[in-house]
Amino acid sequence: MDILNRRAALKASALFGMGAMTGRSLIPAATAADGGASATPPAESGTRYGPQSATGNVAAVYQRAREVLYPICRVCPQCDGVACAGEFPGIGGLDSGMSFQNNFTGLQRVKLKVRPLSGNKQPDCSTTLLGQKLSFPAMAAPIGGLAVNFPKLTHISEEQYFDAIIGGCVDAGTMGSIGDIQSNPLSVTKGHYDVAGRFPGKVIAGIKPRPNENFISVIRLAEAAKAFMITIDIDSAGRGWMDASKSTAVEPKTVAQLRELVRSTKIPIIVKGIMTPDDALLAGEAGAAGICVSNHGGRVLDHSSATADALPAIADKVKGKMVILVDGCVHYGTDVLKYVALGADAVLVGRHIWRAAHGGGREGVALFMKTMRDELTAAMVLTAVPTVAAINRNILELDSRA
Ligand SMILES: Cc1cc2nc3c(=O)[nH]c(=O)nc-3n(C[C@H](O)[C@H](O)[C@H](O)COP(=O)(O)O)c2cc1C
Repeated sequence: MDILNRRAALKASALFGMGAMTGRSLIPAATAADGGASATPPAESGTRYGPQSATGNVAAVYQRAREVLYPICRVCPQCDGVACAGEFPGIGGLDSGMSFQNNFTGLQRVKLKVRPLSGNKQPDCSTTLLGQKLSFPAMAAPIGGLAVNFPKLTHISEEQYFDAIIGGCVDAGTMGSIGDIQSNPLSVTKGHYDVAGRFPGKVIAGIKPRPNENFISVIRLAEAAKAFMITIDIDSAGRGWMDASKSTAVEPKTVAQLRELVRSTKIPIIVKGIMTPDDALLAGEAGAAGICVSNHGGRVLDHSSATADALPAIADKVKGKMVILVDGCVHYGTDVLKYVALGADAVLVGRHIWRAAHGGGREGVALFMKTMRDELTAAMVLTAVPTVAAINRNILELDSRA
């Protein structure tokens, strides 16, 4: 099999849940043979348990998402970064896609200890973050630049997308978010903050590492919208090339520059894109309220480690001193449990609720988040943790504790 064919086969196997390679294809042979972009999107195998609503359950939302998004996103049964490797701009990971795939495999390696005889009947999965109560420790990751990433995806506007993400998360008792792209004129960015302003105190404002003066002008929009927190995805600084006409549109920041941003507002600033304990300490030195352990879903540097692998050493250094968020392939309630056990205060959910928004709008996002919350509660019963504060590495099998 030459390289191109092997890649196509791998993509098909991810799309068809290995069935295409093993003969246990989930879709009719004629459709599978068609492969690629013209194939009819396959139906979801199995049904994910979860609350029912007018939209159905998560499996129904995902089936609808598959119809709308295919082939921009195949909505694979397991979102592991294989089928979309290199599809960037797009939904995939950069270049070989290994950083995205590492996030997936790193998290899969973490194993939970089952302790049914010590379980609690009614664990409480709510938590408090920066003084705000969340129904469970998961919030929306900032996703922006939709026109650049998905120029053909025009069935909803970016404003409608943000409205679905924020509204759905708020309905599920947690925080939504808006993303950013430095090439947008301020008037367009302001339109996004007008949406955020409908949900005061409930929005994470993701702002790219624009030059400070420019960054502060977006902070003012976040203040007017009463954002809950601001993230600066410092790891986007390598991507000035995305807008060649403005090569300074994003920049790496020194501690002094970060400090200037922190001091310019009362909204807590979280430095997103931290993958080492040393960088976490530098963010603390700048006065940041917290960090988000993230490799940007594998979209900024190929061959970076899994966030699940990077998190424990970072938590060992800064846990309790600053907020620790993490992202990377959060799909199920058990994923939230694992990341909290490894040291996070809360997780951010990216691609999965992007899909839910396309498959079911605000209701689809709410359904996805509530399903994950219920899965977390069930997992807390079987790992014998009564509260989020009680979750720690002891619930993990020894070889997963890093
Ligand atoms: C299409 C797309 C756009 C994104 N835009 C932003 C953004 O504007 N700001 C940001 O901080 N991160 C952005 N991210 C990164 C996500 O916030 C998150 O770190 C990443 O997707 C990992 O989470 P996931 O594995 O759940 O998708 C984007 C990711 C994707 C896939």
